[in-house]
Amino acid sequence: MSALIAPSILSADFTNLERDLHAIAGADYAHVDVMDNHFVPNLTIGLPVVERIVQVSPIPIDVHLMIADPDRWAPGFAEAGAQSVTFHAEAAAAPVRLARELRRLGARAGLALKPATPVESFVDLLSEIDMLLIMTVEPGFGGQSFIEGTLPKIRRARAAISAGDLDVWIQVDGGVSRATIERAADAGANVFVAGSAVYGADDIPAEIDVLRALASG
Ligand code: DX5
Ligand code: ZN
Repeated sequence: MSALIAPSILSADFTNLERDLHAIAGADYAHVDVMDNHFVPNLTIGLPVVERIVQVSPIPIDVHLMIADPDRWAPGFAEAGAQSVTFHAEAAAAPVRLARELRRLGARAGLALKPATPVESFVDLLSEIDMLLIMTVEPGFGGQSFIEGTLPKIRRARAAISAGDLDVWIQVDGGVSRATIERAADAGANVFVAGSAVYGADDIPAEIDVLRALASG
């Protein structure tokens, strides 16, 4: 499975978003973090901004919804043209129904788990989704340290996906950098979100290539 790199624009310059989206044109997805100050203690951007991001981005958009009541809000991001829409398992009232709705609208459906949420509780949902996002920091802020204790969970998730003969991507998000990406890949992740590591680099396109090469082994 080839490694996909999804830089998080949370670490971009929000007054120069179009420029900073073009800076990551060599990546596979632009990861867009939506936070509501209910599900997480931080507030970012909402649907009107994401609608414009979808229009100007040179690469597909991967929306990560860290919001309460995704059942109500997530379909709007798929309708806006986001190619992938991920909602949190801890927040969704009816995750299967929501995943099916996202797919019906033409998006890839992603299910996200906070670091302490066990993957075993969601094994039955794996056949309903396209991607499992295993948070490798507590969601809410960029620039945190990768939680090494999430690696066994990534391994268990990959094993469950293989056991079910399913085609489900595993995304990791939080603290992903040159220092951690190989261990996440080795554990079974194939989609790598990196915010500060990419936007903090002197040469952004080169950093994306370095991360992809490290993750590809
Ligand atoms: C955190 C967000 C991440 C964040 C990652 O809650 O979901 O996408 O931007 O930032 P880094 O890569 O700096 O840890
Ligand atoms: Zn994210």
